[in-house]
Amino acid sequence: MNRYLSFLCLVAAGAFAANAETISIAELGFGDMMQGYGQPQRDHSVDKAKLSVGGEQFEHGLGTHAESSMQIDLHGTADRFTAKVGVDGEVHERGSVEFIMVADGKEVWRSGVMKGKQPAKAVDVSLKDVKQLDLEVTDAGDGIDFDHADWCDAKIEFHAQKPSTTPGAVQKEEYIRLTPPTPREPRINGAQITGVRPGHPFLFKIAASGEKPIQFAASGLPDGLHLDENSGIISGTVSARGEHVASLRAKNSLGTARGELKIVVGDKIALTPPMGWNSWNCFAAAVTADRVKSAADAMVKSGLIDHGWQYINIDDFWECHRDSKDPTLQGPHRDADGKILTNPRFKDMKGLVDYIHGLGLKAGLYSSPGPWTCGGCVASFDHEELDAAQYAEWGFDYLKYDWCSYNPSLESKRTRPVDFSPMKKFESAGKPKGLLDQIRPYVVMRSALNHQNRDILFSFCQYGMGNVWEWGEEAGGNCWRTTGDITDTWGSMAGIGFGQNGHEKFAGPGHWNDPDMLVVGKVGWGNLHPTKLTPSEQYTHISLWCLLSSALLIGCDMTQLDDFTLGLLENDEVIAVNQDPLGRPAGRISQNGSVEVWARDLADGSKAVGLFNRGRKASEVKVSWTELGLTGKHSVRDLWRQRDIGDSSDGYAAEVARHGVVLIRVK
Ligand code: GLA
Repeated sequence: MNRYLSFLCLVAAGAFAANAETISIAELGFGDMMQGYGQPQRDHSVDKAKLSVGGEQFEHGLGTHAESSMQIDLHGTADRFTAKVGVDGEVHERGSVEFIMVADGKEVWRSGVMKGKQPAKAVDVSLKDVKQLDLEVTDAGDGIDFDHADWCDAKIEFHAQKPSTTPGAVQKEEYIRLTPPTPREPRINGAQITGVRPGHPFLFKIAASGEKPIQFAASGLPDGLHLDENSGIISGTVSARGEHVASLRAKNSLGTARGELKIVVGDKIALTPPMGWNSWNCFAAAVTADRVKSAADAMVKSGLIDHGWQYINIDDFWECHRDSKDPTLQGPHRDADGKILTNPRFKDMKGLVDYIHGLGLKAGLYSSPGPWTCGGCVASFDHEELDAAQYAEWGFDYLKYDWCSYNPSLESKRTRPVDFSPMKKFESAGKPKGLLDQIRPYVVMRSALNHQNRDILFSFCQYGMGNVWEWGEEAGGNCWRTTGDITDTWGSMAGIGFGQNGHEKFAGPGHWNDPDMLVVGKVGWGNLHPTKLTPSEQYTHISLWCLLSSALLIGCDMTQLDDFTLGLLENDEVIAVNQDPLGRPAGRISQNGSVEVWARDLADGSKAVGLFNRGRKASEVKVSWTELGLTGKHSVRDLWRQRDIGDSSDGYAAEVARHGVVLIRVK
């Protein structure tokens, strides 16, 4: 190059450099950024510490948590993105994430899986002509636990218009209720089969929608059961074992609906997954008797009771607390005989349960096998018999039994014999000691519940430890949590939901997987806010939980249900998938990149199929009849819209929204 040319180049470079500016992405504002846990932090990690990756410290950058997504408008006038990325040192060797950059819909850089303690990886990507940049962090496919992700020294060079953050997907998606309005004519909905033990109280409200008043009739009820024709509540006790198919009728001024209910008097209850409400995801430590009563009232007023929702479950914080300063949580833990006492918020537990039963609903309670619950309240260790007897005396129908503070080496002074026969089976099957220690507290409480004169659905809540699905049924569980606690983010919900594949083999009538409670509506663990899931993500959540035959427990404030949320919870064709009497949960039948298909058999020989798109952009998802084990022509029905789509002789394909689903029934 001659001297003159070099001079010109220097001038040009100087002119360009003079115009170029640099901005840190953490200065752009995070208004609509989505992330799986906590809040995005400027120049700090998600836990608000100094940014540090692989021992290297950084002054500037963005601390986030998987799954996270930040969308930046570059206006086509940016030049370059540079950063060093990795898992923040505050989680030590834990956490695993993947950083991904998407420019105008095309992936332009991917870090590969990065784990805790790994050195930071440098990124240097040209942004020439790019209009929108998405910075994503995924959980690398193994859930979001400890996924503290740092975009350190992350800068954008630009030469004209300053980059800005665009509103996230939550704002962009419309809240469209797909479920048609509930007809005014009567319809009988909900479970078509129910189990009860001989001699135990039976309570079943016929779920019937339509304009009130509705008059009910039933024939073929076993001796001992009685129908209240105005409320549709069937109650009583049946002493003889046997199966009875009752014909039901619901009539209003516009017509008559007919249905059948199979009543199985035997050893099994929970013949379909439990459906109801639980206080934790909305109120957590702030639950009170009044709030529970309002939830029960709202279950009726909203009409959800007419679609099969049944349980009103009180989670932690009905008991007195170990050391809380809050006077409404203080008081004697137990009486002189060791009987558990409620905290002052629940002055009349029996009255509350009677009230719930009077509405035709069932009631649930919570405890732990250790001395203290997860929230630090009094739990059941060494008082299992007394507690089970008290729950029965109050009239509870459901017990969620946690794990917190349980320690196998604690010595118990139990006087009443426990039925350890299930333990013996586990021992002779050669299960290791550590696993036997995990199973024992559930067998102890199961035995205590069996001594009671009522059916109490037993729900294990030990987050899936020791592959609980493999032994939960034998240990006497009616359902078992398969995961840690859910939150209302895509990362949490999708990580849990799509992580259930393989568990379907272990669930069936009487014993169900429970991937945790629903996070639609207003949730917030004591600090209510609308769920952070986008509308499509909410359809995915409910569709997946129904396909999985999961326990369905609404987690939101029942007094603040909006029409969109109601649409999610009162679609009888979608609920029918969850409550299908065959009780055979779905598994994944195909996966192609970020699209997947889950399917299950239904009692009438048809199949329920979910076409899911976990990707960032709308995408086509296909299923062939061969994959479903079908040949010939079949009709397809869209379950959310309750609309027939048509017949096909080879399969079905649909365009599915980002993080969305199309749920169909193939007949
Ligand atoms: C655990 C459970 C939650 C809830 C709380 C109560 O975290 O997983 O569902 O019951 O305890 O403290």
